Amino acid sequence: MDYSRFAHLYDSCVNFDADLPFFVEECLAVSGSVLELMAGTGRVTAELVKCGLRPTCVDSSRDMLARLANKTTAESRHIVCADVRNLPFSHAFSIAILPFNSFCELVSEEARHTALNSVRAALAPRGRFICTLHNPAFRLKSVTPQPHVVTRFPSPSGCGEVLVSVASEYDADRGVVSGTQTFTTIHDGEVVDEISVPVEFCLPSQAWFAEAARANGFTVEALFGDYDRSEYNPESSPYFIWCLKEGAA
Ligand SMILES: C[S@@+](CC[C@H](N)C(=O)[O-])C[C@H]1O[C@@H](n2cnc3c(N)ncnc32)[C@H](O)[C@@H]1O
Repeated sequence: MDYSRFAHLYDSCVNFDADLPFFVEECLAVSGSVLELMAGTGRVTAELVKCGLRPTCVDSSRDMLARLANKTTAESRHIVCADVRNLPFSHAFSIAILPFNSFCELVSEEARHTALNSVRAALAPRGRFICTLHNPAFRLKSVTPQPHVVTRFPSPSGCGEVLVSVASEYDADRGVVSGTQTFTTIHDGEVVDEISVPVEFCLPSQAWFAEAARANGFTVEALFGDYDRSEYNPESSPYFIWCLKEGAA
């Protein structure tokens, strides 16, 4: 997704916070440095910083990172504009986190393998990697080709309301959902702005990820299905929350 098109709307649009205590707890539990991947505008970063952590935050979008920079002080975090597939670090971090199912945005198998390998190389020996993805069975329930409004919020410009609608389809052969997300700003009953962005994300299976993690030098420590650490249930869990450790078992 081209996040630069709607970076100015992201924080008003996304009010999810159920994962914050989980990530804070995981990062406070290690004694070394924290790497936050695909950090975006700093939704998670801000909470880590509030809890005394000083994460290194990576994202490929300068527009998203500009908002992260505005939200936090320069002393409280380190910002790196880079692709998660090509991280400029070597054995540097005790823990890497990749929140908000963003691993699913790496649509090709090759991209996902390259990213896993790149994250492993960034970790200290036996460092941890918490990688989050959608659970396919759960996520597919809300995939439909009919455009439908998924959320609405007051426009951050102060004029009117923004409606977010999505239309998408699943290609089972590729394991990829593609479609369009549209941000429509309505003021006094008139459409005053419309931004349409192509959406594409993949839905790898539990077996695919477990094998890819192993092939790229990780051991699976745990798999949760939600941020309350409940056991993963293929039918009902919203997420895959993979807790990996660098190195073979
Ligand atoms: C859904 S947002 C999540 C942002 C933030 N982690 C959060 O929880 O709100 C996904 C982020 O991943 C970034 N991104 C997408 N592909 C990337 C890549 N290959 N390398 C680094 N960042 C990437 C986007 O720029 C965007 O900021």
